[in-house]
Amino acid sequence: MTQDELKKAVAQAAVDYIAPKLDSDSIVGVGTGSTANFFIDLLAEHKTDFDGAVASSEATAERLKSHGIPVYDLNSAGTLEFYVDGADEANERLELIKGGGAALTREKIVAAVAKTFICIADESKMVGVLGAFPLPVEVIPMARSHVGREIVKLGGDPVYREGVVTDNGNIIIDVHNMDLSRPLDMEEKINNIVGVVTNGLFALRPADLLLLGTTEGVKTIT
Ligand code: A5P
Repeated sequence: MTQDELKKAVAQAAVDYIAPKLDSDSIVGVGTGSTANFFIDLLAEHKTDFDGAVASSEATAERLKSHGIPVYDLNSAGTLEFYVDGADEANERLELIKGGGAALTREKIVAAVAKTFICIADESKMVGVLGAFPLPVEVIPMARSHVGREIVKLGGDPVYREGVVTDNGNIIIDVHNMDLSRPLDMEEKINNIVGVVTNGLFALRPADLLLLGTTEGVKTIT
């Protein structure tokens, strides 16, 4: 199977998991990226079975709307039973690195609100220790150099992601060669740097369920 076929298989598995649990009042939290895009396209087949969605990025909002799925502001959405999103890396504790698509902050906010965070990923994303994928950090633009210096003190190599402005008007620093063997500690340490909006470690709020696409089928990891 190709990587896209694996992504589509996990997207379908997520739809199959949540669809029977949705009702006319349900609002679904929806993530960002190529795997999330497959999920949106498949979720649209059930659009008359639920109320609408909260989007973790402008791109996702546009895709949802293109299918005729109403998009709500998180502040007026009330309860979110499910948040479904991809990841750049996942470990067996369902801690994640996210933000390859620069949407990490809104993704983290929607994940924090949702009762159940379902991560959908192909098997290439599963790792023993997080950190081969450079860790994205969203930063207030004027703090770029300061945050870079503080990240060096923590042992990482910061690289400014040229030409990228987040949906929140900020910049992204990708951190290479960081020791992420203790993801919880590092998530807190990086978030404590003044000027950091948030970082792409999802350890304080890991996924609740990982649907992993493998050549033997979709594995459910909790
Ligand atoms: C977006 O900012 C990211 O967190 C994505 O969820 C992540 O990069 C996974 O993207 P793909 O599904 O495209 O691999």
